[in-house]
Parts: sequence; C-alpha cells; structure tokens
Amino acid sequence: MSDNGAATPPSPQAGPGRARQDAIYRPGALGIAPAVPTEPTRLEESARKAMSRTAWAYIAGGAGSGAPMRANRAAFDRWQVVPRMLTGTTRRDLATTVLGTELRAPVLLAPVGAAGLVTDDADLRIAEGAHTSGVPYVFSCQGGNPMEQTAQAMAGTPWWYQLYWSTDEALVDSMIGRAEAAGAQALVVTLDTTMLGWRTEDLDLGSLPFARGQGIAQYTSDPRFMTLVRERVAAATKRAGGLGVDLKNPLTVARAAKGGVGTLLSMSREHPGGTRENLRSAEPRAAVETFLDIYSNPGLSWEHVETLRERTSLPVVLKGILHADDARRAFEVGADAIVVSNHGGRQVDRSVASLDALVGIREAVGPERTVLLDSGIRSGADVFVALALGADAVLLGRPHVYGLAIDGAKGVSAVIDNVLAELDLTMGLVGAASVADITRDLLLPAP
Ligand code: GLV
Repeated sequence: MSDNGAATPPSPQAGPGRARQDAIYRPGALGIAPAVPTEPTRLEESARKAMSRTAWAYIAGGAGSGAPMRANRAAFDRWQVVPRMLTGTTRRDLATTVLGTELRAPVLLAPVGAAGLVTDDADLRIAEGAHTSGVPYVFSCQGGNPMEQTAQAMAGTPWWYQLYWSTDEALVDSMIGRAEAAGAQALVVTLDTTMLGWRTEDLDLGSLPFARGQGIAQYTSDPRFMTLVRERVAAATKRAGGLGVDLKNPLTVARAAKGGVGTLLSMSREHPGGTRENLRSAEPRAAVETFLDIYSNPGLSWEHVETLRERTSLPVVLKGILHADDARRAFEVGADAIVVSNHGGRQVDRSVASLDALVGIREAVGPERTVLLDSGIRSGADVFVALALGADAVLLGRPHVYGLAIDGAKGVSAVIDNVLAELDLTMGLVGAASVADITRDLLLPAP
C-alpha cells in the first residue's frame, strides 16, 4: 500500500501477469468487472451472445460431431503442470524469435476466415488489437479486408500471410507477390483444406459465408482473380445475355427475391466499389462463383509445395501437419517450419488432437526444427503445456475472435493480454524464467 492507502501498481518489471491483474482488480475495486471474461468458457458464452447464429456456427463450429474439437481440449486435460517451489523467479522473459520474427511472447494470432461475420472490418480490428498487445497476426486468405489494408492496421507489428493454394497457379503467385510487397514476414500455406470439411453447424443453417461474398476480400482485391472474374462475366454475357440483376425489371427483382435478395445484397456490399453499382453489375456474383471454383486445390501435392522455394523469398510454414512422416517430408521439401494443427477441429471429424500429434512429431523431426501448434489453445496454461511438449510457439484462434465479438479491437487485445498474463504467472510459479526453461519435466501425465 502507498501512504494514501491506494494500492501501488506493480512495477513494469513485475511482468505482464501482475500488470494485467492490476489492470483488472483496480477497476474491480470500483465495481467495474472486465468486459471480456478471463475464464475460457465464460469468454465463449459471452461471445456467443454477441454473435449472430450464422457467425457463431462458422466461427465456433467444427467438423461432423465436433469430436476433434473436444479431442483438442481433452488432450490438454491429459497433462498436468508441476510447480516448483522457492525458485525466486522474479523476472520472466517471454520473448522468443521464430523464423526471424521477434515475438514478445510465443503466441501469434491464427488466421480465422470470414471474421467479417462478427463485425465490419474485422481483420482491421483484429490487427489493431494485435498491434496494441504486440503480438503478430497471421492474416487469413479468407479475410474480409485486403491484406494491404490490414498490413497498415498492424502499424509495424509483424504479420504473416496464410495462403490457400488455388487451382489457378497465377493467382498463387499473385497472392505471394502481394504478401511480400505488403511486408509479410512469413508465408503460411494451409495444407488441410483442399476442400472444406463437413461442417455441420454451417450445413444445418445452409450457411456458407463465401457464397454471400463474405471472406473473399483477398481475392476481389487481386488483379489476377479479377481478370478471371471479368473473363467469366464476358463468357456468360455472350452465352446468356448477362448475369446481372436489372433492378428496373420487376420480374427479375421478384425472382431475385425468391432466390435470396439478402445474398445478392451481401455480395454487392462485400464487393469492391459502391453497393448500388454492384447491385446492377454481374461482377459480385461472378466473383463468388469464381472463388468457389478455384479457391483451393483438391489435387495439392508435395510437388506443388516444393515449387515454393523458387516462388518466394519468405520463410515457408506448412500448416495442418498431424503425422510424423508428413512432418519429415515438409522439411525435406524445403519448409522452414510446420504448424501441427487439425484446423481447430474444423476439417476431419474424429481427427487426432493437435497436442497429441505434437509429441510424436517433435520426436520425429528433432529439437532443431521449428514446430508451431494450433487448435485447442484457450489459456496461458495451455500455451505453457504446448511449449513444454515441444512447440516453439502457438497460434491462438477462436478466442481472439470471441474478444472481437465482445469488445472489438479492445476485446482482441484483452484476450491476448489475458493469455500472456497467465503464461507469465505460470512461468513464475513453476520457476521458468524464459521460454527455453519451459521443459517437459515440468509436466506429468494426468492420472
Ligand atoms: C477457413 O479458413 C475455415 O476454416 O473455415
């Protein structure tokens, strides 16, 4: 306590954990509870209330029965942390470097597609939150803002770009070139979504954001993609005399209403340019159709991936690895890092949990290779466990979007700060002064 009776804030050296506790308990003493819950289940519940049904289905939903999402969490529950006493770990250094990117802590924000379902300009708000908390953001190929805009919003905080491999090779090159030009520090190629998984939450609402033009801004801002769209419009006009909806024609309007005027409006709003002009144009719909045709390549192979070494100077990260042989192969074809991931349980029902796969993969590739993990991370304690089992850093997915839904950019930042705070306190309480000190002997399998 200070002389006037007010609590003295912890010094900055006390670390992010005590600073965050202070930032929450001080207003708490005045009766103000944090807008963004610190407890993961309450965070989720609160976000659900703030989201539409379709947004919730897409963001929170997973594959099939949801088993892989449960498996991700169950995998963490099978490990327990063993605190060590009287280590005097008064200072913790959370900093680390991954692929040349300096990280304040071993945490990056994962790419999450179609976050525009949650709020307008979602990627920009996420970028602002990431910047405020000093954590890199991996922009989604299925983003709602062009990467060049989101890069601006990062205001100097590092970012990586996530790529879905299109069936159009020129589009692959175009997106890589844009990411390089805009300042990405790594290219993350997602291997596990050569087709969308069987997403029952979305299916049962008949809801696919991309079909409404949401989450395709990296495409509609791409010159190669727009060339394909214009070719498609030209071909259709020749065949059928036009794709657009003539708003002056009551018959066409009535038909559009039946077929989903909401979808048409959404496409027109999402497409670059003015909504009114877009409503009269064939382009927004052609863009959606082109996207659905080419966004990912079901025939993607190791030979495709091997070509990346000639196609980019950026470090290449392969995301979606779950088998030790694939991990070895990834490094053989020139990857600089892998992300052990089951895509947040969104792709294959009953797939192995990321954390379970991590252990064998780290053994298979050895201690020197860069191995990241995503899927199932909800807290600082989870980050600690993932690192102790061999991850060099983790990607935080749904929780940052939950923060976004609750409190915009501030909510994103709050979620990050809470995770880093708990990681810092966990390190202090188990006696790990640095990321390198987070080792397997600080864990036990749960009985
Ligand atoms: C795409 O990124 C998805 O998981 O929906």
